[in-house]
Amino acid sequence: MKVLIADKDTHAVKLLDMVLKEQGFKPIICTTGDEAFRRWQSNDHPPIVIIDPALPDMTGIDLLKKMREHDRGRATYVIFLTNKGLRENIITAFNAGVDEYMVKPFYAEELKARLRAGKRVIQLQRRLLERNIMLEELVYAVTHDMRTPLIAMEMTGKQAREGIYGDLPESYKKILDTTDRSLKDLLSMVDNLLRVARYEAGKVERSNEKVNLVTVCEECLAELKPLYDKKKIAVKLLLNVREVPLTVIRQDLKRVIFNLLDNAIKFTPNGGSINLSVEKIQDKVIVGVQDSGRGIAREEAKLVFDRFARAQGARHAPGTGLGLYMCRRIIEAHGGVVDCIPRESGGTTFSFMLPVAP
Ligand SMILES: Nc1ncnc2c1ncn2[C@@H]1O[C@H](COP(=O)(O)OP(=O)(O)OP(=O)(O)O)[C@@H](O)[C@H]1O
Ligand SMILES: [Mg+2]
Repeated sequence: MKVLIADKDTHAVKLLDMVLKEQGFKPIICTTGDEAFRRWQSNDHPPIVIIDPALPDMTGIDLLKKMREHDRGRATYVIFLTNKGLRENIITAFNAGVDEYMVKPFYAEELKARLRAGKRVIQLQRRLLERNIMLEELVYAVTHDMRTPLIAMEMTGKQAREGIYGDLPESYKKILDTTDRSLKDLLSMVDNLLRVARYEAGKVERSNEKVNLVTVCEECLAELKPLYDKKKIAVKLLLNVREVPLTVIRQDLKRVIFNLLDNAIKFTPNGGSINLSVEKIQDKVIVGVQDSGRGIAREEAKLVFDRFARAQGARHAPGTGLGLYMCRRIIEAHGGVVDCIPRESGGTTFSFMLPVAP
């Protein structure tokens, strides 16, 4: 196991190097914070790091904070060296994300014990991570296999509804309509999960297709018309341009707008209103979905783009809490940002910004 040392004190480094080698670790010695950060970010990322607080180019705490900000889920066990066991220094170090500390001059036996503890924690974290990946893959495999039978059921239901298998009494038709809606919800959940999985795995193909955002907005509104008409929601499309070329995967852009509108319709009571706006400002475009619905608490607005997040009080509505997470992944992968703003007058505005294709 690799151990990164960030320390300019040659005497301490010598002792660390000796003990580490003796214990079967591979030491990587860096004398500046910048070098240590670069080595730690490399592909073979050392899982244990020993940091001296006084580095020539930055403090040990700054190096540690930088590492914690960029760890992207990778396990790193950090041992901090301190010259004096000052209580406030130790508290600052723990608050910044230290796992263990040692007071200089330290004993070889103490270092060995701390390294053993570090190795144990890293091994546990790795095992957990592997389990997590296995579980995620299982979820995605099952989800994937659900798709085909669901489509088959949807088609059979549609054919039965059309009378291909013989005449149906009205009451049966109603039941088939309800089943069809449930199947569509399930299929949309399956598709969202699978799309999210591809984005998370970084396996999404780059688009070189130019898509007109306005056309996609119009298509989404047309497809959702039966839903908002049924709730008597007044929907308006507000544009400051008619042509907004974007370099995106058309189907993904549609998923985003569709999900935002679907939420707005779901969380707006009968007789409410929804505005879908497209505003081009120089080389950027902002799309907003503003509704007069149930609104959202300020503190919850920050969390709704997380995976499986659902606001209090929305739990009775159908859904999994994956829609907005998927929107965020798609928009961020295309160099944009998403936002949710609760409106003072009630209702919510969801928006995203994307760069316009040259
Ligand atoms: N327009 C809205 N008004 C009020 N709350 C909203 C609105 N849109 C989203 N939310 C809140 O954000 C949560 C997350 O939305 P998201 O689209 O991710 O999930 P969902 O709609 O519950 O399920 P899914 O989209 O996976 O079917 C919702 O459960 C709801 O609490
Ligand atoms: Mg949703």
